[in-house]
Amino acid sequence: ALLAGTAHAQASWPSQSITLVIPFAPGGPTDAVGRMLAEAMSRDLSVSVVAQNVGGAGGTIGVNRVAQARPDGNTILLHNIGMATAPTLYRRLPYNPLTSFEMLGLVTATPMVWLTRPDFPVADFPAMLARIRESGERINLGNAGLGSASQLCGTLLQASLGTRFTTVSFAGSGPIYPELMGNRLDIYCDQTTSAIPFIQARQIKAMAVTTPQPLPAIPGVPTASQSLPGFEIAIWHGLYAPAGTPKPVQDRLNAALRFALADARVVERMTGLGSPPEPVARQNGEVHRAHLAAEIERWRPVLQAAGQFAD
Ligand code: MLT
Repeated sequence: ALLAGTAHAQASWPSQSITLVIPFAPGGPTDAVGRMLAEAMSRDLSVSVVAQNVGGAGGTIGVNRVAQARPDGNTILLHNIGMATAPTLYRRLPYNPLTSFEMLGLVTATPMVWLTRPDFPVADFPAMLARIRESGERINLGNAGLGSASQLCGTLLQASLGTRFTTVSFAGSGPIYPELMGNRLDIYCDQTTSAIPFIQARQIKAMAVTTPQPLPAIPGVPTASQSLPGFEIAIWHGLYAPAGTPKPVQDRLNAALRFALADARVVERMTGLGSPPEPVARQNGEVHRAHLAAEIERWRPVLQAAGQFAD
């Protein structure tokens, strides 16, 4: 009877609204992607998928919320490359990315762009680098906390320049933009998903993109690798459910993810923000798991060399 009951519960899933945890503040890149996903997945699943922002500690608070949630498919997570960097950065992470979650598929890979406040007195990326070399700790860099994408980008710049900035951490990119536009922070490295609208509105200055080629959406912005050979980074996002979520429910969530990433409006909006959906073959849990495992190993030595850790 118990088995039959379980099977029935799975067959009738979903029967209530689903919470999609976004482990950063509203108004940032994860929020932008997550809200598009939630809307399109709701249409496929015929229940509402409600995006819930749970920011703090570089995303690890929201991630842990989902690690602790009941594994019934009603609480899921969208997270970025931080899933792979946090295990090295946090000595006491309360979850294990590879064993606390089921992987539901890769969502998107997003370039980053180096930004400055409107009044920062430099005309281009080489001048920005020169000023950082001169001013060191007098430069204020915003980031979304240890284990965020922006923190990784800032760490890579500090490592390549052999310098340290003064870092000011926020619960996500969303709250950083008013500080940057208000000239209270000097520089920021963010994903194009959030940055492009501000760049196009000329509210902040774009200095360099982290792609091998310039981006059509922001023509005239050079690549970072022109000035710093090898400075290339793409931020990937994946969808997760708590470990133990029944396989049929995982499969249904994966189907809803694929539905959302094939939606013409989603494709158009994400592409315009520099962040088109991953190829269909990567919208897959096994590919996602292998990618996460490889990314943990890839970033570990880089972050250990940079030497900034949390307890
Ligand atoms: C956000 O959504 O606020 C960002 O993804 C933060 C980050 O990881 O830099």
